[in-house]
Amino acid sequence: MQENNIKTIYRSDYAAPEYLVGHIELTFLLDAAQTKVKSRLRMQKNPESANPNAPLVLNGEALHLESVSLNGVPLKPGHYQLSDELLTLPNAPKVDVFTLEIETLISPQSNTALEGLYLSTNMLCTQCEAEGFRKITYYPDRPDVMARFSVLLIADKEKYPVLLSNGNQVSSGELKHNRHWVKWEDPFPKPCYLFALVAGQLDCLESAYVTGSGREVTLQIYAETHDIDKCEHAMRSLEHAMRWDEAVYGREYDLDRYMIVAVSHFNMGAMENKGLNVFNTKFVLARGDTATDADYEHIEAVIAHEYFHNWTGNRITCRDWFQLSLKEGLTVFRDQSFSADRGSPAVRRIEDVNLLRTRQFAEDAGPLAHPVRPDSYIEINNFYTLTVYEKGAEVVRMLHTLLGTEGFRKGSDLYFERHDGQAVTCDDFVKAMEDANQRDFTQFRHWYAQAGTPKLTLKTDYDAVAQRLTLNVEQLCAPTPGQPVEQPLHIPLKLGLISPSGQDYALRLEGEEAGTTTTRVLDVTQAQQQFRFVDIPEKPLVSALRGFSAPVTLEYELNTEQLAFLLAHDSDAFNRWDAGQRLSSRLILNLTEEHPAQSDVELLIGAFQHLLEQHWDDLELLAQLLTLPNEDYLASQVKVVDPVAIHNARNNVKKRIAVCLQTDFSRLYARHHVSGDILLDRSGIGRRKLKNTCLVYLTALDNGETSALAAEQFAQARTMTDQTAALACLLRSSAAEKNACLEQFYRQWENEALVIDKWFTLQAACPVTGTLEHAEALLQHAAFDWETPNRVRSVIGAFSQSNAVNFHREDGSGYRFLADAILRLNAINPQIAARMLTPLAQWRRYDTQRQAGIKQELERIFAHPGLARDVYELAQKSLITA
Ligand code: TRP
Ligand code: ZN
Repeated sequence: MQENNIKTIYRSDYAAPEYLVGHIELTFLLDAAQTKVKSRLRMQKNPESANPNAPLVLNGEALHLESVSLNGVPLKPGHYQLSDELLTLPNAPKVDVFTLEIETLISPQSNTALEGLYLSTNMLCTQCEAEGFRKITYYPDRPDVMARFSVLLIADKEKYPVLLSNGNQVSSGELKHNRHWVKWEDPFPKPCYLFALVAGQLDCLESAYVTGSGREVTLQIYAETHDIDKCEHAMRSLEHAMRWDEAVYGREYDLDRYMIVAVSHFNMGAMENKGLNVFNTKFVLARGDTATDADYEHIEAVIAHEYFHNWTGNRITCRDWFQLSLKEGLTVFRDQSFSADRGSPAVRRIEDVNLLRTRQFAEDAGPLAHPVRPDSYIEINNFYTLTVYEKGAEVVRMLHTLLGTEGFRKGSDLYFERHDGQAVTCDDFVKAMEDANQRDFTQFRHWYAQAGTPKLTLKTDYDAVAQRLTLNVEQLCAPTPGQPVEQPLHIPLKLGLISPSGQDYALRLEGEEAGTTTTRVLDVTQAQQQFRFVDIPEKPLVSALRGFSAPVTLEYELNTEQLAFLLAHDSDAFNRWDAGQRLSSRLILNLTEEHPAQSDVELLIGAFQHLLEQHWDDLELLAQLLTLPNEDYLASQVKVVDPVAIHNARNNVKKRIAVCLQTDFSRLYARHHVSGDILLDRSGIGRRKLKNTCLVYLTALDNGETSALAAEQFAQARTMTDQTAALACLLRSSAAEKNACLEQFYRQWENEALVIDKWFTLQAACPVTGTLEHAEALLQHAAFDWETPNRVRSVIGAFSQSNAVNFHREDGSGYRFLADAILRLNAINPQIAARMLTPLAQWRRYDTQRQAGIKQELERIFAHPGLARDVYELAQKSLITA
């Protein structure tokens, strides 16, 4: 444990910056071992500063300061104060514009934290969000200081032929000693977290794009030579995203050039630096034989996400980091809407909600819970969470639901018009939505302030004589630490009423004119509320929370027959799927309590059979409906989690289904499997997803015949989707072929890092017994590397987050394995170490023995000397007594 550097930052302490930067001129003498950074700032006291005598304070970490001068006069050490984190100038001018020049030295090659300027393989690149710029030079590193950047890059011509930064390239030239230079200017003022530079031997895929108003934009994707043949899909995705933002939000791109660089060492998915996005290779590179259908989909979504940030994040940015969801929640909502328009909206919604309900709900119920707009933090990097991103997107989606497409567009137009070029707050966003639509969202704002998942309870009362359905709605908000009173929330409750024959009734509330709408949104605003529907001739079933219209848990008592009925008949695809999940969860969880209800299993099988008999245009949706709830979802439904019991019960049900529906699955598999398939169109995706779902059931039977089927698919596969699907099935089975297949896979893909990541993941996530020992062996493999986040995630992340049975071994060895890894990573890359810790934070959900095992490891981590702030904060919060 460590106490220095540990300071809690509070949202309520926000104060305007003391000094502003008009312009920054940066010169980089690039070199992997030692880079010199010269910064020349045009600064001025902020006229809006609350404190006219405050000194000029600049952030800086892990920098070697060479010199400081003010208006051309070098400052002696007595004229400034230097600490580990700050450079303070007490006597900076209080009125006039002045020039501050600073020279620092940094060492990219020893920067394994991958924040600031670092070396990835042979290229130099930067990552500045959230507070990485302070590892490059001394600067007021906060998003509400926006400056114009000019950047001069100087480097060896052979090692770094390509030199990139934000904005437009304005000039370039040659120098002595085989060096060259390139100068960049970004006309848009920006916070320093959006600064970027890349230098290296890179190939480029280029495309020309013409905006709706006729402006020409050059699109470029940079990658290592070996990977340049895997950039086509990313380029098409970018073009689609650009077109979509013009059509749906009326926003065009604003520079002449848009660059994306694929980097193999990267802490997260990608980064929206102005005009120069830097991406994890995982979210750029795709070729049919190296990337799965899911990879293609994720690439399209992340490319769009970063592109959309150009307006929601860059042109309008955050005032402070507590407002992070202003850009992230909104941009996730935008990328989700884009993906829905590109493919099957129902399937996309199911995927998004599944992530939210399993992972974000767990976060929101655990010791790391925080509001969408947090009130305090120790390390901001720990707040790039599912709550800020995914729940934040749900909050924006609710505004969209409440206002409708047109009202939402009016609101976003006003938001852009009012705040272009500014650093603003979540509240400013809601205000624009309100003002453009003459609405009052005072109550809605609580969504930003209250942590925890609200519970919505529905009870119905049907009056057959009056043909009236009374719906009683109750909302219960989880208590938020530090917030004594829980305010009722404004919850959009979308619903339909389904007749006994499976038809949607027209919905008319008492006192309204008759109409034809069959789905509508009720405004739930009180702790308890009643809605009365009239003209309902027979007792209906409520299809509640259609499309998952609010991030709440729904309590609405339905028996298994009613769930099966909804699975068969609901006109809302999301609710159909949800009914199926509830039905199969109930069955699986009954099994863990050893109450096997044969009739319920038959009911589920009957429901599946019914699905298989129907005609489907959307095969992806059918595959979703046939997939059992995942173990995380099942765990979320019980008070005390026994991961082994859940895993076994789920497998048991899977096998029973496979036994009963074997012929159907075989038939469906044969119909949709194409040997040597290389088609990558939409229909191919659905086809592969469905037949690979069938393969999962068939191989659950685990006999020679099913192993041969999987082995055959593996051998013939020409798409990565088919190859990995078959290998995953084989690894779970007792098939004799599995080791040979694993070895063959390795040899085939030895030179494709992203595919080797899959090779590691498939093994680390495999639920068979003995995987812990196997994971330990994987860490010794020549291709394992602690300094490459993708590789760390592929073993440590996969084992601890996608392999509950092995991770939660009763002897606690899974926890020890993870804690050892975290402590090792703590010294290499604190951000990654902290991310790996999140499964341990959930310790209170398990039985006492497992609780003790996890807690012991958390305490061991917490007691470790030299803990990084990131890890310290999460360990400390996880251990706090509730
Ligand atoms: N702003 C990025 C996004 O959501 C994510 C991001 C934040 C990030 N911090 C980072 C990426 C650190 C890489 C490293 O698109
Ligand atoms: Zn983002």
